Amino acid sequence: MSQHHPANGRRVTPGQLVDNFNRKISYLRLSITDRCNLRCRYCCPAEGIEQVPHEDILTFEEIRRLVAILAAYGVKKVRITGGEPFARKGVLSLLEAMKKIDGVEQLYLTTNGVLAADHLHALKAAGVAGINLSLDTLDRQRYAQITRRDRLDDVLRTFHGALALDIGVKINSVVLEDTSDEELIEMVELGRKRPVDVRFIEQMPFSGAEIIDHLGRESLLWRLQNLFADMVELRTDTPTTARLFTRPDFKGRIGVIEGNSRHFCASCNKVRITSTGMLKTCLYDNGVLDLRALLRSGRDDEEIGRQIVDAVVRSAPDGHSAEKASRRLSEPSMAAIGG
Ligand code: GTP
Ligand code: 5AD
Ligand code: SF4
Repeated sequence: MSQHHPANGRRVTPGQLVDNFNRKISYLRLSITDRCNLRCRYCCPAEGIEQVPHEDILTFEEIRRLVAILAAYGVKKVRITGGEPFARKGVLSLLEAMKKIDGVEQLYLTTNGVLAADHLHALKAAGVAGINLSLDTLDRQRYAQITRRDRLDDVLRTFHGALALDIGVKINSVVLEDTSDEELIEMVELGRKRPVDVRFIEQMPFSGAEIIDHLGRESLLWRLQNLFADMVELRTDTPTTARLFTRPDFKGRIGVIEGNSRHFCASCNKVRITSTGMLKTCLYDNGVLDLRALLRSGRDDEEIGRQIVDAVVRSAPDGHSAEKASRRLSEPSMAAIGG
């Protein structure tokens, strides 16, 4: 049955996006740019990655249309990613437009925090419930060495400013081959008196950034459990990428994202759209549907919605084959996918 979609007046056939493994898709990760103002060494080479020409990036109106279509199919949570979302002009107006779309209940942002500090009131007003902040170390020199830019102070301003405004904050901290125990302890301390999830992330290899497999048989989790013997795992019903742990006398939580050694497929509830409009049903696929081509060839919302449903059913990664097939992501950088 068709009806007029409230967000745009066009006809869509609403329903629920369910793949052939019965996973319900409710979470959209939306990359709005491949550009970034940092050059994290685990993400990209010093000179950055080749930038996509402006005309190949989806316009805000194209993005808004796609999100409205997906929301009619049950997507409730939207996370804006990059590159760095603030590297694209007008991100705040896009966020405002997102929150107005019928069905979008939760709006989040993953950011490196370099440019966000001055826009926190606007983020709050736009209805952003939380930010995931990339922050690998609290040592200024080391931060500059890892990101190749000396911007730690700006990130900390974003961190404290967001908490003061009651915007939820999760820290994403990629653990490198030379991350010391002292650094891990300092990072964890951020969560002692604050309701912050400090999430440590295993590095994932990309074709454009060389990553040393430094963990060997000793996993990141093993290392953390040895450092923080009092941490206790929390069981959750909702699917999350991070395993979460509490500690006595701790307001926040410690998280571990085992991007490299754990499979998320069974509980996965997300799809991705890249800044150029490729639909990805898995972090490890190369894009399963060219949404930009559909938008620019004049297809209506109903047709695009139908093609998305087909793509989700057709290309669901069966029993983790995609993850198993290649542990190295084919894109040159996380910036091209948005995480
Ligand atoms: P929440 O909505 O707070 O759970 O955020 P998130 O963890 O989904 O998003 P975020 O952008 O903060 O990503 C954190 C890390 O998790 C990044 O390194 C992502 O690449 C990684 N990640 C997210 N989804 C997946 C996934 O499906 N598989 C793998 N291997 N890594 C993922
Ligand atoms: N491996 C794991 N995580 C990465 N990120 C960027 N590059 C990598 C990588 N090679 C993380 C950043 C950011 C999130 C979206 O992805 O910490 O917070
Ligand atoms: Fe930018 Fe994120 Fe890549 Fe760092 S990891 S260079 S912040 S896109």
